[in-house]
Amino acid sequence: MLSRAAMLLGGLLLAVATMIAAQRSGPEAAAQCQVHLVQSGPCSYTFVLPDPQLCPLGDPGSPDSLQRDVSPTAPSASLGAWRAQRMRQLEKALENSTLRLQKLERYIQMNLRSKLARAQQHMVQNQTAAMLELGSDILNETAARTSDVEAKVLNETSRLEVQMMETSLSTEELEKQLLQHSNELHRLQGRSSALETRLQALETQQQEDLASLREEKEQLRRLLGNHSGALAVLERSLRLASSNSSLLQMQQRQLLESVQRLVHVMAQGPAAPMRAPEQMFQDCAEIRRSGATADGVYTIRVANDSEPKKVFCGMESNGGGWTIIQRRVDGSEDFQRSWKEYKEGFGNPAGEYWLGNEAIHQLTSRATYSLRVELEDWEDQEAYAQYERFQLGSEAQLYRISVSGYSDSVGRQTGLFLRSANFSTRDADNDNCVCECAQLLSGGWWFDACGLSNLNGVYYRDGQHLRRMDGVRWQYFRGPGYSLRATRMMIRPVGG
Ligand SMILES: *[C@@H]1O[C@H](CO)[C@@H](O)[C@H](O)[C@H]1NC(C)=O
Ligand SMILES: *[C@@H]1O[C@H](CO)[C@@H](O)[C@H](O)[C@H]1NC(C)=O
Ligand SMILES: *[C@@H]1O[C@H](CO)[C@@H](O)[C@H](O)[C@H]1NC(C)=O
Ligand SMILES: *[C@@H]1O[C@H](CO)[C@@H](O)[C@H](O)[C@H]1NC(C)=O
Ligand SMILES: *[C@@H]1O[C@H](CO)[C@@H](O)[C@H](O)[C@H]1NC(C)=O
Ligand SMILES: *[C@@H]1O[C@H](CO)[C@@H](O)[C@H](O)[C@H]1NC(C)=O
Ligand SMILES: *[C@@H]1O[C@H](CO)[C@@H](O)[C@H](O)[C@H]1NC(C)=O
Ligand SMILES: *[C@@H]1O[C@H](CO)[C@@H](O)[C@H](O)[C@H]1NC(C)=O
Repeated sequence: MLSRAAMLLGGLLLAVATMIAAQRSGPEAAAQCQVHLVQSGPCSYTFVLPDPQLCPLGDPGSPDSLQRDVSPTAPSASLGAWRAQRMRQLEKALENSTLRLQKLERYIQMNLRSKLARAQQHMVQNQTAAMLELGSDILNETAARTSDVEAKVLNETSRLEVQMMETSLSTEELEKQLLQHSNELHRLQGRSSALETRLQALETQQQEDLASLREEKEQLRRLLGNHSGALAVLERSLRLASSNSSLLQMQQRQLLESVQRLVHVMAQGPAAPMRAPEQMFQDCAEIRRSGATADGVYTIRVANDSEPKKVFCGMESNGGGWTIIQRRVDGSEDFQRSWKEYKEGFGNPAGEYWLGNEAIHQLTSRATYSLRVELEDWEDQEAYAQYERFQLGSEAQLYRISVSGYSDSVGRQTGLFLRSANFSTRDADNDNCVCECAQLLSGGWWFDACGLSNLNGVYYRDGQHLRRMDGVRWQYFRGPGYSLRATRMMIRPVGG
């Protein structure tokens, strides 16, 4: 654009220079017609010389016309005036041209300024574009980084998902196993319940059998009751009729023994005779547990190596299972005995007897026993004393007695022993008296300083039983001098 403006300006200046040259060369030359055309973009400028009639019709541009211009002759007076006028005209035109040139210059200057402004605008736009590009670069980078992070997060998430899937798979596996186990358990439960029902059926069957056996035994027992009733009558009449006759006595003893055997057999049930000796009972509590419920004489075997012993069992009162270790009832047995006799026992289990210190020691050493003492006076009064714990020491311990947990029917103090005491007989003085209690009071007993009782004393009959220091004595029942009519000492395992 600038170069075009410069070209236009150049053309103008050429035209002006030509015109001025023509002016100087004379009127002919000045009258010469010169047409200049300048094209510049949308604008076109046409320069025309002012006097057209002077212009030759021939070739206006040829250089000959200038030579012909100088040839005319006859300069006249009016010629000077015309020349002056012509000069003025030219000056004016020049002035006009100058004005127009100035105008043109102004226009060009204006144009140039707007172009510059436009160029500046371009630059601004370019910079803006550059900044935009930079911005988009940053954005691109940020986006790239973001997508990177996103990808990582996604990767992590998918990894976690895979893990979760694996976990859930193993959980399913476990659940399946659990299900299998519980199924197995159900199956086992079903089987065990079936077994249970079978067991119950067997049990009921067994119970029925047992009940029928019991019934049989009860019948036998009733029969036995009839027999023993009849036997008692027989015995009484026998005793009355021939207590003196040794022959009869022997028969009576035989009869008695056979009755006892029968009682034993009946008490132990139909299977008892087939039992081996080592299966014998140790005390009356065991016999009671085996089903016997009737009072009477039974056989026990206290220790492995000892002989079987006959003993009276109290089965019917105070819960039964009582092993009687001492019995006084009619004075038929002599209780003035030696240490050895008290050790081994004496008397008749069906009547009066002493079981024996060794047997009592063996029994009360293998389990905890309680002791019950039952007393009866000549006025038909009864009393008892009971000890929760009762134990007899060995022979080396002089069959020392230990009792505790006392209670009795009259609420008094213990009638037996305030503390432990050793056993004494007339031939073994182990008491705590300077005297010899066994000599003084008779019998074998756990004398202290002769003490408050002696159930093995002399048996006095009715009417002779008062004021007797050596009688069958229990001080807290009937006082110190009263000899009792009947006594029983019995033991039973605690809780058995
Ligand atoms: C100068 O130009 C104007 C118009 O552009 C015209 O009217 C005027 O006659 C011209 N003057 C001369 C002396 O040519
Ligand atoms: C615009 O910038 C580019 C380079 O980024 C350059 O080549 C060009 O000449 C510039 N234009 C103007 C008008 O500045
Ligand atoms: C933007 O990133 C894409 C691919 O990530 C690339 O093709 C493009 O050229 C980038 N643009 C710029 C301006 O960097
Ligand atoms: C996705 O994680 C795996 C391994 O866990 C790796 O091999 C891989 O290159 C990761 N891909 C990306 C895009 O991080
Ligand atoms: C017992 O004897 C009586 C008669 O003395 C008798 O009626 C009863 O049937 C007998 N009992 C048994 C079980 O034999
Ligand atoms: C026993 O025999 C004696 C004589 O030997 C006699 O005195 C006594 O009365 C008899 N007793 C009885 C119960 O028969
Ligand atoms: C009795 O015999 C049995 C077996 O024969 C034995 O185990 C037990 O110790 C014996 N008891 C005594 C007190 O000898
Ligand atoms: C029993 O006898 C033993 C041994 O002789 C003795 O140590 C003990 O003190 C006696 N006990 C009583 C209560 O007298």
